[in-house]
Amino acid sequence: MKNGLEDVVAAETVLSDVDGEAGQLIIRGASLDDLAGSATFEDTVLRLWDGFFEEPMSAAMVNTALGRARAEVFAHIGAVDEAMLSMPPVDALRALLARLPDGDDLPTAVRLAAATAVFLPALLRLQQDLLPIAPDATLSQAADTLRMLTGTTPCPAQVAALDAYLVTICDHGLNASTFTSRVVASTGAGLASAVLAALSALKGPLHGGAPGPVLDMLDEIGTESNAETWLRETLGRGERLMGFGHRIYKVRDPRADALKAALQRLAEEGTVSLSRVKLAEVVERVAVAILRERKPDRRLDVNVEFYTALLLDALGFPRESFTGVFALGRTVGWIAHAREQAMNGRLIRPRSVYVGPRPDQQHSLQRAV
Ligand code: ACO
Repeated sequence: MKNGLEDVVAAETVLSDVDGEAGQLIIRGASLDDLAGSATFEDTVLRLWDGFFEEPMSAAMVNTALGRARAEVFAHIGAVDEAMLSMPPVDALRALLARLPDGDDLPTAVRLAAATAVFLPALLRLQQDLLPIAPDATLSQAADTLRMLTGTTPCPAQVAALDAYLVTICDHGLNASTFTSRVVASTGAGLASAVLAALSALKGPLHGGAPGPVLDMLDEIGTESNAETWLRETLGRGERLMGFGHRIYKVRDPRADALKAALQRLAEEGTVSLSRVKLAEVVERVAVAILRERKPDRRLDVNVEFYTALLLDALGFPRESFTGVFALGRTVGWIAHAREQAMNGRLIRPRSVYVGPRPDQQHSLQRAV
């Protein structure tokens, strides 16, 4: 049995390839290095979804359909209730997404991709007693998301930075949430069910819940001179460093480079605190050295979540919303995988090894752990 299904191959896919030895990510035929910083969210939808629905797709069609769907789903903001206002944003997002109809077609997929971008900013504003801002169907999804969050028109550099983030995290092999999406799709349940289940898998701190705590860590460390003491003490207590380590990558996560480059482009525009970026670089360098010293046989480097924290913070997203912003991009990948599974796959039904008592054996029921 492979604990955590390590190295188990559970699907064939044309969607993405994660080369953990070389530190390379291919997203449907293109290298992340070529996409991040030039492709938009809409380009990524076309790249990952084309061929998985009955309708032929084009860039113009994706732009129009997403804009129109954002305008339509805004009506669901009326369903936000008191309970959602006090939930963590990712839970409130899940509760609101659960109101959408299910299905397997392109309109369902577009609605889900548009809804994440509309619901999250609206929920964040409502949670701060601010009125939600209606979508502008003429804008790109990244520009509209930032406008619905802050109420002001974002500058091109901010839009480019959010696009770079959404493209960088759109798909990543058979990670826990994507596998969840495929499991749900394999039963014949619809895309909304697959996305809701995947979002539930994403929110855990070992997966997409890491970037908020990364920012907490940087705040607690505070100064470059405090980095080594803080990191050694934290690891000494047996705690993990958020934003470090990865199951597949044996080298630096290439998405960290893509996000750091986006952050540096933003810094050139003067919208990021350079002292915090510098602190992050020092924390990364010191942490990697300490982790190498403690675990010489297992390379632990920064993963995508480390620079995600700084980038999303610079764009004005509150840290408790970072997992929800991750879902804005990853929903595209979850949907593509769900369609690929539904079209080409079979019911996912692995086996377990029973290690409990047999009926003919004397036993008392014991606690499992
Ligand atoms: N800090 C300190 N030690 C670590 C870390 C870390 N971030 N990551 C792994 N280790 C150690 C473990 O304690 C373990 O040590 P042990 O063998 O002495 O018990 C060893 O390295 C192997 O760890 P596993 O849990 O087996 O590694 P796995 O491949 O299952 O975990 C994971 C990968 C979950 C990402 C892990 O590195 C981790 O917890 N990182 C912190 C959380 C994080 O940043 N998550 C985001 C990942 S990217 C994403 O999902 C979008």
